[in-house]
Amino acid sequence: MTLAIYPGSFDPITNGHIDVLKRASKLFDKVIIAVLINQSKTPFLPIETRIDLIIDAIKDIKNVEVDSFNGLTVKYAQSKNANALIRGLRAVSDFEHEMQMAQMNKNLCKDLETIFLVPKVKYNFLSSSVVREIALLGGDISNLVPQSVNDYFESMKK
Ligand code: PNS
Repeated sequence: MTLAIYPGSFDPITNGHIDVLKRASKLFDKVIIAVLINQSKTPFLPIETRIDLIIDAIKDIKNVEVDSFNGLTVKYAQSKNANALIRGLRAVSDFEHEMQMAQMNKNLCKDLETIFLVPKVKYNFLSSSVVREIALLGGDISNLVPQSVNDYFESMKK
């Protein structure tokens, strides 16, 4: 069985993440979205909320599961016997940081490949931070995020 880990902050999950996830789900028998719990930057949404929003957003994709992890991504991936890490690659601005992570992860674990998947062009400049900013300033994010995320930010307005 081929297994890929799609690690990230998902703070919150966006339609760009879902696009990447759907592509990965066609290439692997199983994909685990792995949400990083502790990170240097304090997340906006608590881990439980990020996970709940993802669970709802992926309910129609059969071979995808959600999990959370602490520490090194490669250690988590090894604990699951994963074959690959999935990362989305949008604009050129992603490239240097993503290459650094891929090279460092390869240095840590020679058997684990990083596979970059390219989402639709319309998601090139979509990010969780932009979504948060628009939502918190009262803007419409409904075409940028799954329904669960839109509903969550709408409920914050009340
Ligand atoms: O969604 P993000 O914030 O771009 O995801 C970044 C993430 C979580 C994949 C990255 O920060 C990570 O892997 N963190 C875990 C710690 C780790 O393994 N660091 C070494 C990577 S070079």
